[in-house]
Amino acid sequence: MTTPTTTTATTTVLEATGVTMRFGGLTAVRDVNLTVGEGEIVGLIGPNGAGKTTFFNCLTGLYVPTEGKVSYKGTVLPPQPHLVTQAGIARTFQNIRLFANMTVLENVLVGRHTRTKEGLWSALLRGPGFKKAEKASEERAMELLEFTGLAKKRDHLARNLPYGEQRKLEIARALASDPGLLLLDEPTAGMNPQETRATEELVFAIRDQGIAVLVIEHDMRFIFNLCDRVSVLVQGEKLIEGTSDVVQGDERVIAAYLGTPFEGAPEDSAIEEVQAAEAAEAADAAEGNDQ
Ligand SMILES: Nc1ncnc2c1ncn2[C@@H]1O[C@H](COP(=O)(O)OP(=O)(O)OP(=O)(O)O)[C@@H](O)[C@H]1O
Ligand SMILES: [Mg+2]
Repeated sequence: MTTPTTTTATTTVLEATGVTMRFGGLTAVRDVNLTVGEGEIVGLIGPNGAGKTTFFNCLTGLYVPTEGKVSYKGTVLPPQPHLVTQAGIARTFQNIRLFANMTVLENVLVGRHTRTKEGLWSALLRGPGFKKAEKASEERAMELLEFTGLAKKRDHLARNLPYGEQRKLEIARALASDPGLLLLDEPTAGMNPQETRATEELVFAIRDQGIAVLVIEHDMRFIFNLCDRVSVLVQGEKLIEGTSDVVQGDERVIAAYLGTPFEGAPEDSAIEEVQAAEAAEAADAAEGNDQ
């Protein structure tokens, strides 16, 4: 018999320990530890291909991690998406996954029924059970549409919404499963600055409702304004973690984004030499093209 796993503090909502994900020869995520506490907004940043989405997929049961375990409120999660949702983790996707030909309201209603496999099928097929539950759930769904600013669009088809509103609808749908933790994968991608600011406010409001948030974003201003703690993934490994101030000021983070090695970085003179050589080469090439 195994003893139930307990987290180090009662306030820990999510605890990922030693999560590794390999695809054949590629290790997309390597031995990553991460916690999210109650009432926290934690950011996950890193260059393209760093393994952020893969890590989310490991947390939500979409992938079975090669190694490591994921606990939610002290209980180890089985790596199956519907069980993870049922436990209390909801997510949005980097590539929006709405039911394009359903209305805004219907999409949120489907979100309420993702807690069980049966419920989801019933919702998608709109069976009698769903119709009945629909009435009971509609009030809550409308509350969520008010909350996300989409109430007026309730009867629009999801595919006709502008991109920014589709992202908001994904958040409303995720909230419909009454999560204790919300995972957001690039919630402001494709948004204009006003929409991004509104999303920032929305995430604060979600946190104020007692839902912990883990958010992936490339928009650094958004991340550093929002997050209590930021974790940086580089080539599948956690490089550093800390408050926004600490992470912002760490040269290794900047180096990781610029793609320049930090340790043993070349001297300025060496860089100038290379730049001069490149410029000469470019000039030669340009001459060649002119002939
Ligand atoms: N299903 C898969 N099979 C094989 N390789 C994969 C799979 N999913 C992701 N990868 C690889 O894992 C690595 C990490 O990808 P991932 O999408 O997690 O990065 P990311 O940090 O989310 O990047 P981005 O900021 O561009 O969204 C990449 O090299 C990617 O090609
Ligand atoms: Mg990604």
